[in-house]
Amino acid sequence: MAENLYTQPMLKENSLKDKVILITGGGTGLGKSMGTHFSELGADLIITSRKMDVLEKTAKEISEKTGNKVLPVMCDVRDYSQVENLLQASIKNFDKVDALLNNAAGNFISPTERLSNRAFDIIVEIVLKGTYNCTLAFGKNWIDQKQKATILNIVTTYAWTGSAYVVPSACAKAGVLALTRSLAVEWAKYGIRSNAIAPGPFPTKGAWERLFPEEMRALFDIKKKVPLGRVGEHQELSNLAAYLISDFSSFMNGEVVTIDGGEWLKGAGEFNMFENLTPEMWDQVEKIVKNIKGS
Ligand code: HXC
Ligand code: NAP
Repeated sequence: MAENLYTQPMLKENSLKDKVILITGGGTGLGKSMGTHFSELGADLIITSRKMDVLEKTAKEISEKTGNKVLPVMCDVRDYSQVENLLQASIKNFDKVDALLNNAAGNFISPTERLSNRAFDIIVEIVLKGTYNCTLAFGKNWIDQKQKATILNIVTTYAWTGSAYVVPSACAKAGVLALTRSLAVEWAKYGIRSNAIAPGPFPTKGAWERLFPEEMRALFDIKKKVPLGRVGEHQELSNLAAYLISDFSSFMNGEVVTIDGGEWLKGAGEFNMFENLTPEMWDQVEKIVKNIKGS
């Protein structure tokens, strides 16, 4: 059987050639997958997170696969001075950075009343503060250098709906979405575009261990939440991210692109709960409703 098209690369070779792309949280999960694909498309990368051993392993793996440069730099994005060092290391090695992918995150499920203030802080600081720290440091440099650039922020669909049991993450991702849309207008005059992607469920070790632990998976089938009946493939997210980073998307600015198989809308539509009605039940309903006359 032919492989699904969505598990294959979409953009043509060298679509990201001569681009230098910085990926926060680039050593694992979706950051690693997107980085691998950007590198396959000709980009040089800087990947960053708190764990140097993880970054070094990923950098080696990617550059051996693609032949392009991958620089691992340790940086806790919550700390602005570390982000400034990250910027300096990036410029020293590559002279410039063309794109910033704000992908680093922290999250866990918990009833909100069980959270300590420190637990709330830690998530908001990684997701929101980490994103604005990197955006501010790199943005100031781009504006000073009169360099065109692009920012891509990874949010979630609950950035606009909110979600129970991941409240710090929901608050922080909502802030990142506001940042994306605000700067899309404010920094467009400098040639800086800002966009976001809101992924639905894309299995990764980091997210699955914390959000869908083994015991929960037995109780809830995540695929059932998705109208298309499956979870996402990393390649399809990578294709979208590569497009939004590339010059093919030069007129896209301030957009948040949802890639979730229709998941959030299924939770939102007033009558979506009727999904399990059989055709016979619909016959009955039709008969009853058609018999209602007048007000
Ligand atoms: C309640 C918790 C908790 C839990 C930690 N805390 N886990 N509270 N329930 N499950 C509290 C601790 O008690 C502590 O507060 C505070 O949080 C900090 O805990 P630490 O152990 O010091 O923090 P640490 O382990 O360093 O970091 C926690 C973390 C970590 C940041 C969340 O798991 C991490 O490094 N995550 C990075 C990767 C990640 O989370 N990836 C998933 C992204 S998925 P006190 O007061 O006791 O000191 C995602 C997608 C969502 O965002 C959408 C999916 C569809
Ligand atoms: P992941 O592998 O756990 O990725 C999170 C990354 O963030 C890790 O590499 C982690 O590395 C890094 N990070 C955490 N705290 C950091 C800090 N203070 N400074 C720098 N880096 C830090 O999880 P993932 O699933 O790939 O998530 C990637 C992104 O996709 C996140 O923004 C997440 O919210 C989003 N997302 C994921 C899904 C999904 O289904 N997987 C759905 C919607 C949105 P260190 O621990 O080494 O620092």
